[in-house]
Amino acid sequence: MDTVVSGIRPTGFLHLGNYFGALRNFIKMQNDNNCFFFIADYHSLTTHPTPADLHTNIKNVLIDYLAAGIDPEKSTIYVQSDVPQVCELTTLLSMNVYVGELQRVASFKEKVRRQPNNVNAGLLNYPVLMAADILLHRADKVPVGKDQEQHLEMTRDFAQRFNHIYGVDYFKLPVAYNFGQQLVKIPGLDGSTKMSKSDNEASCIYLSDEPTVIRKKVMKAVSDSGPTEPNQPKAQAIENLFALMAAVSSPETLAFFEEKYNTCQIRYGDMKKQLAEDIVNFTAPIYERIKELRSNDEYINRVARQGAEKARASADQTVGNVREIIGIKHF
Ligand code: ADP
Ligand code: TRP
Repeated sequence: MDTVVSGIRPTGFLHLGNYFGALRNFIKMQNDNNCFFFIADYHSLTTHPTPADLHTNIKNVLIDYLAAGIDPEKSTIYVQSDVPQVCELTTLLSMNVYVGELQRVASFKEKVRRQPNNVNAGLLNYPVLMAADILLHRADKVPVGKDQEQHLEMTRDFAQRFNHIYGVDYFKLPVAYNFGQQLVKIPGLDGSTKMSKSDNEASCIYLSDEPTVIRKKVMKAVSDSGPTEPNQPKAQAIENLFALMAAVSSPETLAFFEEKYNTCQIRYGDMKKQLAEDIVNFTAPIYERIKELRSNDEYINRVARQGAEKARASADQTVGNVREIIGIKHF
């Protein structure tokens, strides 16, 4: 049985990009793998969230996870900071990680550009903490979206380096995973290639959006004045509408609008109306469960406590082994 590990930062509600890039895979994998899904609250501290909001954000993500279909009876679902053993593994791994290689990471360079006044050491060390999350449970597979590919390559490098330095075959080399296909990237409603709450809130449809909000957002999505020639290549914003439709609508619906586009008969208003309805149909059952879970604090607390206990047991074992391999001994 493979071990699967993945995490999502509690920086807001979960959107369709999180769902199709990561969550959908988690949900499928939990039936026949040993799965650990966690809320990466340490990682979210790199952008200095307000202390008063942190716990609420974590709770919201936990609720979205459960409502989308992660089953705490099948998977271990926990909050990263409930398992501080990950900090020890980060420290131990970071002794064999070089500052130069961290400075070359695309996500770090992007953050330096975006938040020049807050280039903290946590940002630089982000890939080491992420590798520790994954290696903590000796994962085989990591379901994530395409943007996380480089972090996974680094995790494999760090794991291999550890094995090599200590002459052991301890860590497996985990791979970024998407069911039977390439890693996915769901586009935004604003014409951008990635739906992302960090880039532009307006690009996102959240699993917890009310149907009226979804309809409004989709109707406002960027489009253009329509094709003037048959089979014309699509502009990015139009590609995006079709990609979203491919994710949530039936193949027949998608083929219908492809045909309308290719024969220059498309009316984007009609396409958006259909897309909005298909998104609402897709999110409605999840949204109903979100509303129920929001009023069930006792259940949410129980899930988080049970998950923390199971994750700590797995983490203790790994950190114990790693200490031994490194030569750390108790008096
Ligand atoms: P955001 O980019 O909105 O801040 P996160 O960085 O917290 O979202 O992403 C959490 C998970 O969701 C990661 O596995 C990431 O790869 C995936 N993900 C985020 N946005 C998308 C997207 N637009 N398409 C596919 N996967 C995505
Ligand atoms: N870096 C991931 C993101 O921004 C979140 C994350 C943290 C993660 N640790 C992880 C994902 C471990 C998979 C495995 O989305």
